[in-house]
Amino acid sequence: MKKAVIAAALGVSALVLSGCGEPESKGIDPKVYTDSLFAVMKADRTNYTKLVVKRLGPAGTNVIQPDEHWKDIPNGTLLPAQMFRAGAEAVQEMTDDFTYSLQSIWPINSQNAPKTAMEKEGLEYIAANPGENYYGEEKLGDVTYFTAVYPDVAVSDACTSCHNDHKDSPKTDFKLGEVMGGVVIRVPL
Ligand code: HEC
Repeated sequence: MKKAVIAAALGVSALVLSGCGEPESKGIDPKVYTDSLFAVMKADRTNYTKLVVKRLGPAGTNVIQPDEHWKDIPNGTLLPAQMFRAGAEAVQEMTDDFTYSLQSIWPINSQNAPKTAMEKEGLEYIAANPGENYYGEEKLGDVTYFTAVYPDVAVSDACTSCHNDHKDSPKTDFKLGEVMGGVVIRVPL
């Protein structure tokens, strides 16, 4: 009886051990990875727009002024898109595991126009299919990347009015709720 219990216990631990020993090499699905990264980016971007920039009001009414030319005015602070890029640049200094950027096929800043064929295809896709994301694989140089494109939506009329009135905006009829551009996240495979 005692022997049987010990044998059973040994059997169980052997099973557990062999279970633990089996290498689980499957990594995180790139889609889950980029979807999670995007969730953090979107939360930060929306919060900065709604909780900071919107509460500060139009330029000139407050001590701290969100302004495209924030560096040139004494109390200037970054617009949401500039805050987003500052984050992307800081991340680039920390890791090569992924890169991200805010882009549009109607950019105010030509630096934010798509640069690869897949970026352009992804931005066109999310603009034509509201609510959907775009995923693909592209080869740049010797490296294959998983590239995901997520819609950046006009969540506030501050978005549409500022872009529609901006002298460098190629599109002047953005409407609330529309896709204005996209977040591109790229992961080397
Ligand atoms: C006060 C003006 C202003 C507001 C408000 C604003 N933007 Fe922008 N947005 C800009 C400027 C200026 C740029 C270019 C910044 C840069 O890259 O230096 C930009 C960049 C962008 C880009 C990248 C492509 C481009 O146009 O260069 C997207 C996409 C974008 N904004 C979407 C939005 C959305 C969505 C909102 C609301 C959540 C918003 N913007 C609010 C002025 C504004």
